[in-house]
Amino acid sequence: MDTVHLLLLVAALLLASPGTAVDARAWTEEKNYHQPAILNSSVLRQVAEGTDINGMWQNDLRPLLIERYPGSRGSYAARQHIMNRIQRLQADWVLEIDTLVSQTPYGYRSFSNIISTLNPTAKRHLVLACHYDSKYFAHWNNRVFVGATDSAVPCAMLLELARALDKQLLSLKNVSDAKSDLSLQLIFFDGEEAFLHWSPWDSLYGSRHLASKMASTPHPPGATGTNQLHGVDLLMLLDLIGTANPTFPNYFQHTARWFNRLEAIEHELHELNLLRDHSWERRYFQSHLDCPAEVQDDHTPFLRKGVPILHLIPSPFPEVWHTMDDNEENLDPPTIDNLNKILQIFVLEYLHL
Ligand SMILES: *[C@@H]1O[C@H](CO)[C@@H](O)[C@H](O)[C@H]1NC(C)=O
Ligand SMILES: *[C@@H]1O[C@H](CO)[C@@H](O)[C@H](O)[C@H]1NC(C)=O
Ligand SMILES: [Zn+2]
Repeated sequence: MDTVHLLLLVAALLLASPGTAVDARAWTEEKNYHQPAILNSSVLRQVAEGTDINGMWQNDLRPLLIERYPGSRGSYAARQHIMNRIQRLQADWVLEIDTLVSQTPYGYRSFSNIISTLNPTAKRHLVLACHYDSKYFAHWNNRVFVGATDSAVPCAMLLELARALDKQLLSLKNVSDAKSDLSLQLIFFDGEEAFLHWSPWDSLYGSRHLASKMASTPHPPGATGTNQLHGVDLLMLLDLIGTANPTFPNYFQHTARWFNRLEAIEHELHELNLLRDHSWERRYFQSHLDCPAEVQDDHTPFLRKGVPILHLIPSPFPEVWHTMDDNEENLDPPTIDNLNKILQIFVLEYLHL
């Protein structure tokens, strides 16, 4: 047999075989096998130096430290602010507002989730999320509840991540020749808080709606049999972050290997002396802590539908939780700066950037 015929035979065998090694596994299974591309110490140093806590404080955080319960003027301002901060970046973020109307203890109210996506047609996305609404409290001695840790700081951390990694995220544009069909999505939920008393009907207004909507939206566009929730590799939900000395236990064994990456990155940065006011005894990520009871939060509707979750919420909650003291004064900038570094490195490693 000459070479041409041999090649034709090989080609015919390949075409006849049920699938090549690459597509033998359904794309929806890829997340179970996904490995991070671990960064070396010189890249870690660059990332640690590239994040800017002071810039984040002035430009991302301060404008969010207002009353912003669903439907309020502050809610509208917070939404505009988040969208403006993302729109000015170079990476190709596609912004979408998901609006819903729901019955609440105070009658019908409107809620708007903000979804910011790179490469919306990419099959898989790592999702970072937080809620941008503040809990409704009556004013008290002219004081207003601004929910600094709950969750203005997490929102600002996501905005700072998008800014600091803008150049790397811009390179995701060429997803067709990227190593994998994997990209990034940010979700800012509205209506996480209960208006009155936390219950299945009075809480998680935005996330309940979005989880259902994503479950019934085919993905990739036009697909049959797979929906947008299949496209979520991992939902990382940040909440109640910003005070000093938080400890994060691992809530889900299913995603323990990703929690362990957060621990390993914290350890590496600590060893390289790239964290501020950081002692190993008081490290943030502690997988050896007893797995505590699950905390209800915006991940809950997604968890029930089978989405892998990392819940980055401290245990115990900050002492200022749901008090007028959850304000700027009680935030600890070095802790937030350190967590920004850890989160940014995690994302770069996850996305192989
Ligand atoms: C670290 O990784 C970067 C990017 O992969 C590479 O360019 C650089 O040479 C590496 N540095 C060291 C010291 O290995
Ligand atoms: C995308 O790929 C093209 C050709 O390979 C290259 O010229 C361009 O700079 C890339 N764009 C980004 C944003 O990396
Ligand atoms: Zn709250």
